[in-house]
Amino acid sequence: MRTDIRKVAVLGAGTMGAQVAAHVAGQGLEVVLLDIPSPAPDRSAVARNGLETLRKRKPSPLHLLENLAAIRVGNFEDDQSLLADADWVFEAVVEDLEVKRQLFARIAPAVKKTAIVSSNTSGLGIAAMTSQLPVELRRRFLGTHFFNPPRYLKLLETIPGPETEAPVLAAIEAFCDQWLGKGVVRCKDTPNFIANRIGSYAFGAALQAMQELDLTIEEVDTLTGPAIGRAKSATFRTADIAGVDIAVGVAAHLYDAVPNDPERSLFRVPDFMRQMVERKWLGEKTGVGFYKKDGKEIRALDWKTLEHRERQKPQLASLEAAQSVADIGARLNQVLAGQDKAAQFLDRVLTSTCLYAAALVPEIADDVVSVDRAMEWGYGWGGRAVSGRRAIGPAPRRDAPGVGPEALLRDGRREDHGLRSGRERTSARPARRPRPRRPQAARRPAQEEPGGQPGRPGRRLRASRVPLQDEHPRRRCLRHAGGRDQGGAGPLRRPGDR
Ligand SMILES: NC(=O)c1ccc[n+]([C@@H]2O[C@H](COP(=O)([O-])OP(=O)(O)OC[C@H]3O[C@@H](n4cnc5c(N)ncnc54)[C@H](O)[C@@H]3O)[C@@H](O)[C@H]2O)c1
Repeated sequence: MRTDIRKVAVLGAGTMGAQVAAHVAGQGLEVVLLDIPSPAPDRSAVARNGLETLRKRKPSPLHLLENLAAIRVGNFEDDQSLLADADWVFEAVVEDLEVKRQLFARIAPAVKKTAIVSSNTSGLGIAAMTSQLPVELRRRFLGTHFFNPPRYLKLLETIPGPETEAPVLAAIEAFCDQWLGKGVVRCKDTPNFIANRIGSYAFGAALQAMQELDLTIEEVDTLTGPAIGRAKSATFRTADIAGVDIAVGVAAHLYDAVPNDPERSLFRVPDFMRQMVERKWLGEKTGVGFYKKDGKEIRALDWKTLEHRERQKPQLASLEAAQSVADIGARLNQVLAGQDKAAQFLDRVLTSTCLYAAALVPEIADDVVSVDRAMEWGYGWGGRAVSGRRAIGPAPRRDAPGVGPEALLRDGRREDHGLRSGRERTSARPARRPRPRRPQAARRPAQEEPGGQPGRPGRRLRASRVPLQDEHPRRRCLRHAGGRDQGGAGPLRRPGDR
C-alpha cells in the first residue's frame, strides 16, 4: 500500500471538515473541499463559506493565511471529478447514518481505485455505514476520528471496519502520525469508540454525583480540572465549548446504542440539560450554557433553578487543604482520605470511571494503554484513565462491579494487560518508507503572513499563529497542557525529518 498521500478530498465544510482541510493544507498538500450544492450563481457557496469561517476561528486552524487560497472548493453534484485523483477522501458531513451512507454510495464511482476513504463519525458504526458499498471499497474504508480543534488536539482514533485491509490502516496511521502530527489510537468499531465512550460515562457520573451530593457547577469544575491533573475546561466548560446539544446528543445516542451496558443509566440525560437545549443554551455557540458572559462578568448556572447567578467560591475543604501538595497522586490521596463532599465526589466519579474504563478495555480497544492515551490526548486527562488508578492509591471504596477490572487495578501487572512503556506504540507501524517530497509552497518562511514584497518580509504572525511544526516539541507540549507536561505527546515531525 502506498503511503504517499499528496491530494486529500474533504467532504463536508462544517466545523470539522473545514478545519481538517486547513490542517492538511498547512502541510503543503493539495486539498479540495466539497459540500452540498447551493442554488446558482455560486453552487459551491456552502464550501466557500465553510472555508471563510476559518479566518475567524480561535485558536486559528490555519498554519498560514495563504493556505486558504490553496484549498479548492466545490460541491457534491458538480465537482465529483475533483475526487478522481485524490489519494485520501475524508468525510465530515452531519452525524446522520443515512446521510453518510447515501453520500458514500454517490461518490464511490468517482473515487480512484487506490484511494483511502474514511469517515470522521464520532460514533456511528463503520460496518453499518459501509454495508451497501462494493467490497473492494470497503477494504479501503475506515473511521478516522479527529477531535476538535483538529489542528491542536493530538488524538486521532482510527477504526477499521470488518473488511479494512491492514496495509490501508497502517498507511493512514503513518500519514496522520508523520504528516499531521496526530497521536493515533486504534479503536474497535463500538459505539462512540474509546474517548467519547469513557468521556460520556465520566460526564454522566459527574452529573449524577453533583445532583446527589448537591454540588454547584463551579464546584464540579474545580474538582475535575487542573486540581486532578485534567484540562482547565474541566467538565462543564468543556461541554460549553463542545456544545450542550452535542453532549446531550452523544449521551442519547450512547444510551440507545448500548442496551446491554450495565452502567447505561448514566447516559440518561438529566431534565435540566434537556431544558437547556430547549432554551438554546447550547454553550459557546449561543453565548449561554453552563456559563454565561454578562458584560465582563461570567455567571454560572444554578442547575436547580435554571438561573445564571454570580459565580460562587467553591466550598471544598479537603481539596483546599491538599492544594499545596504538588504531586497529583499524593494530592488525590489526601483528598480521598477526607470525609467532605469533595472527597465523596472524587471517590465516586474517579473510581467508577476507572472501573468502567477497565471493564470496557477488551470490548473497545486492543489494550489498556490505548484507553489511557485516548483520554490523555483527546480529553486532556493527565491521570491515566485505567492504569493510573493505582497511582491514586487506595483501593476503590465501593463494591467493584467486576473482578476483572478490580484485579487489574489492584495488581496492575503491566505485561498482563498490554500496558507498555510510554514511548512504545500501540498500533502496528508500517516499515518506514520514503516520504513524498513536500510541495514547494510549504517551504516559504513560516512566520510571515502573505503580502510581503519580494525582498521584504511580510507581517509577522502573532505567537498563537506560529505554525506548530516550527515550535520546539517540548514547548508545544507544555503550551497544549497549559503549562503542564502531558507526557507522551511526541514531537510533531516535519515531513522529511527522520
Ligand atoms: N464538531 C465536533 O466537535 C466534532 C468532533 C469530532 C467529530 N465530529 C464529527 O464530524 C462530522 C461533522 O461534524 P461537524 O461538527 O463538522 O458538523 P457541521 O454541522 O459543522 O457540518 C456538517 C456539514 O455537513 C453538511 N451537510 C448537511 N446536510 C448534508 C447532507 N444531507 N448531505 C451532505 N452533507 C450535508 C453541511 O453542509 C455541513 O457543512 C460528524 O460526523 C461529527 O460527528 C464532530
